[in-house]
Amino acid sequence: MPSPSIPQPSILISRTLPAESVANARSRADVDFNDADSPLPRPELIRRLQGRQGLVCLITDAIDAELLAACPELKVASNVAVGFNNIDVAAATKRGVVITNTPDVLTETTADFAWTLLMAAARRLVEADRYVRDGKFTQWKYMLLLGGDIHGKTLGIVGFGRIGRAMARRAQGFGMRVLYQDAVGADAATERELRATRTDTATLLRESDFVTLHTPLLPETRHLINAQSLKTMKRTAYLINAARGPIVDEAALAQALEEGWIAGAGLDVFEEEPKVHPGLMGLPNVVLAPHIASASSETRLQMANLAVENCLAVLEGKTPLTPVNPEALKLR
Ligand SMILES: NC(=O)c1ccc[n+]([C@@H]2O[C@H](COP(=O)([O-])OP(=O)(O)OC[C@H]3O[C@@H](n4cnc5c(N)ncnc54)[C@H](O)[C@@H]3O)[C@@H](O)[C@H]2O)c1
Repeated sequence: MPSPSIPQPSILISRTLPAESVANARSRADVDFNDADSPLPRPELIRRLQGRQGLVCLITDAIDAELLAACPELKVASNVAVGFNNIDVAAATKRGVVITNTPDVLTETTADFAWTLLMAAARRLVEADRYVRDGKFTQWKYMLLLGGDIHGKTLGIVGFGRIGRAMARRAQGFGMRVLYQDAVGADAATERELRATRTDTATLLRESDFVTLHTPLLPETRHLINAQSLKTMKRTAYLINAARGPIVDEAALAQALEEGWIAGAGLDVFEEEPKVHPGLMGLPNVVLAPHIASASSETRLQMANLAVENCLAVLEGKTPLTPVNPEALKLR
């Protein structure tokens, strides 16, 4: 319990989170909690942040320079996600606002789902399910819903960080060759352990049977996969995106899938969520998911717990577990 002379920190949790995480926050802070599972309209978010030092926010909250200027008492914004492209980190650092995220706890769950998309796209699982439900399974057919093999193929990983490497680990079990492209090379021991070879983007696109994206969304990764990259890929290849939508030019992807430049795709994220490019909606060779790669009960709880801990740590004068801009801590 804080001593009576030290006022409890005051925080806003911008959107619904598991009850256990909210209860933890309430035991240590004065908490305003939006328990609706929809984002607060921006003016309300700003209004409810007045006089509060901490924010636990979601990827649907845009934390930009204007919001930071309107909330001068804010000391920490704790994102419940590993990606933080919804936050202007430079503007926050300038104001001494600490930004935190939730790496590691979601790595395996996210890779599990990216792998699910990969398998579902290659083996046409969603089409098969629809076929049965539509009453079309009236007899076994030799050539029915032929897909592409996964085992023994080449996996190209773009962004060889935590989740990218977790994909490489999964590829081992399928006897796959692993190529990767990253702004930074992995050390030799990691490459050996994961049997992964660093290559340039063009080679990766040309040689991979599956291309899976795991970079953050940055100015340099926006439309990293565009018409030209899709034309470089094999006609039998599949594209998997469980990173961020704008890394792929969605209009170009729709054309590629429609015209058979590549065989298929699995997408968890979209350029303008929750909108999906209309050209994708009617295509049978793309599996679509509503941004749920980290959505297991266990992981969503761990993410929320970590975000609450990060937020309260800063307000209690401790070092948060996973700061994005540790330099802001020095400005406090
Ligand atoms: N769909 C989801 O629900 C979901 C869940 C978790 C993470 N994500 C996304 O996945 C991303 C990766 O997460 P992580 O924990 O693996 O992050 P990470 O920081 O461990 O890995 C990112 C990798 O991308 C590399 N990279 C950066 N810029 C690059 C560039 N221009 N070209 C090539 N590589 C580049 C980095 O060097 C790093 O190795 C997150 O930023 C997030 O946006 C999505």
